[in-house]
Amino acid sequence: MGNNFKLNNEVLIPSIGFGTWQISEGKAVVNAVKCALTTGYKHIDTAAVYGNEKGVGQAIKESGTDRKELFITSKVWNTERGYEPTLKAFDQTLSDLQLDYLDLYLIHWPATKNQFNNWEQINYDTWRALEELYRLGRVRAIGLSNFLPQHIEPLLEQATILPMVNQIEYQPGYMQTECVEFCNKHNILVEAWSPLGSGKLLKNETLQAIAKKYNKSVAQLCIKWVLQNGILPLPKSATPKRIKENLEVTDFTIELKDMDTINQMIPSGISGLHPDRVDF
Ligand code: A2P
Repeated sequence: MGNNFKLNNEVLIPSIGFGTWQISEGKAVVNAVKCALTTGYKHIDTAAVYGNEKGVGQAIKESGTDRKELFITSKVWNTERGYEPTLKAFDQTLSDLQLDYLDLYLIHWPATKNQFNNWEQINYDTWRALEELYRLGRVRAIGLSNFLPQHIEPLLEQATILPMVNQIEYQPGYMQTECVEFCNKHNILVEAWSPLGSGKLLKNETLQAIAKKYNKSVAQLCIKWVLQNGILPLPKSATPKRIKENLEVTDFTIELKDMDTINQMIPSGISGLHPDRVDF
């Protein structure tokens, strides 16, 4: 595991990313991202639809961190699917972030058969734009988010570049095993959004008891559990103490029997946002 995962194109990606979903544009996101960068995070995950790319960009700039040391991810939103709109959306994202390249660009949600007759074509057209950006060297890696095997399979038949990442909801009680196994088989790194169940898991008694044994917080336990399962966690916090705490997970290892107990947990933190059922 170490400090990085290696993507299927050999690019290294820092093994814990700072999630920025639900951190408001302006002061809140500028302060949170600056705090993350000074604390030691090298990997920031944002998206056009979060509405906070300008603040993320401002924080990166003001932090004075060397751009080459950072790993910045963003995502194309659902209203911009297709080849031309995606290229345009990418330009807007770069401009808002005040950057001249991205490290990773993702399709935020798949077009699905419940929404479109030509959903496979739409996903492929969006993917072609990502392939083009990758070939042009404007992004170092490309991938998917919230894609399940049934959405990835048709894409793989047409793609000339294999996705490097799939970012899905993943937390104790919601392991999406079929999707993770599919991604592992295809050498696609899985990233976990809502690794703490958006905070809902922090009061879980099973997790509290295990965390206590290691003298760690439930948040730290969840983050380490994600890593030990070979998945890249993207914890979000806007609180300096928690931002720091979420990075302090290198000084303990969860024993196999505790991993098993967590792996067996029933769902209690799920967002309810299923890719085939969302209405956005
Ligand atoms: P806050 O942003 O107010 O600090 P997830 O990463 O699963 O989306 O969870 C994010 C939620 O968990 C946010 O509400 C965040 O609160 C909270 N959170 C993040 N890290 C911690 C922590 N170390 N301790 C307690 N709550 C945390």
